Amino acid sequence: MSDAIDAVVDAVTSTAPDVRDGLVGRRTYEAGANPSGERQLEADVYADELLEARLLDIDAVAGYASEERESVVRAGDGRGRYFVAADPLDGSSNLRSNNAMGTLFGVYDGALPAGGDGLLASGFVLYGPITTMIVARDGTVTESVVDSDGSRRVVTEDLRLPEEPTVYGFGGRVPQWTDAFADYVSEVESELKLRYGGAMIGDVNQVLTYGGIFGYPGLRERPEGKLRLLFEGHPIAHIVESAGGASSNGERSLLDCTPERLHERTPLFVGHEAYIDRLEAALSA
Ligand code: AHG
Ligand code: MN
Ligand code: MN
Repeated sequence: MSDAIDAVVDAVTSTAPDVRDGLVGRRTYEAGANPSGERQLEADVYADELLEARLLDIDAVAGYASEERESVVRAGDGRGRYFVAADPLDGSSNLRSNNAMGTLFGVYDGALPAGGDGLLASGFVLYGPITTMIVARDGTVTESVVDSDGSRRVVTEDLRLPEEPTVYGFGGRVPQWTDAFADYVSEVESELKLRYGGAMIGDVNQVLTYGGIFGYPGLRERPEGKLRLLFEGHPIAHIVESAGGASSNGERSLLDCTPERLHERTPLFVGHEAYIDRLEAALSA
């Protein structure tokens, strides 16, 4: 298993510079939409095709699932054991405004969709001023710098959320927030400072660095929220929980949630346990 996870992490690392270089000139929308009905940038499709090829090239990988594809792509000869679920380009609407984006992945020991308890490893690449990579496996989180040659240099071992929370960021239009959530945010905004950049990976990296909470709540007209449980909720929850934080769909850890459909959406919150506990209390009142 460990060799398979090494191979997946290495494949994502080596793909990162190609994704980053490939962003230039791919800011226009494709004709189609992704399975969530959202418009696809050329960059979304490009990153997805690169990751599919590199990940299915690994003998131990039996299948590749992506936010950009209707169903799981199985390895040709039915070989392999592990399944990788990816959000090839998270926050792709930030490309035109030249802001942070990322690549998110989770490695599951079994067919997809699966519960969060099936996650063996997870991680993300953050295309910021520099390219960094966060990997959560075996209960610990490692931060690396990814160089342009596709190599990885560890810069933080056993990354933990800082003691003191500092920042918060919540998605969705404020008039669409429920009264209970809006009341909770009024408390949070009197305690923390706002950091919301429009790409979950960039915003969660703020929480990993400065402490606090990130979320995209269920909305009045969209109680399931915007983010996808398998491609965004599970891996980001696995990372933040492995770094000593907590996650929630408003009621329970996202890792205790199992999607029935591959592209199922979920309300998503990650960060300091105290803020997650207060959120769950506020939404259950
Ligand atoms: P993706 O680009 O993979 O669809 O993800 C975008 C998501 C997430 O990264 C971010 O937190 C959220 O959409 C931002 O949504 P709004 O633009 O509605 O704020
Ligand atoms: Mn995303
Ligand atoms: Mn995406």
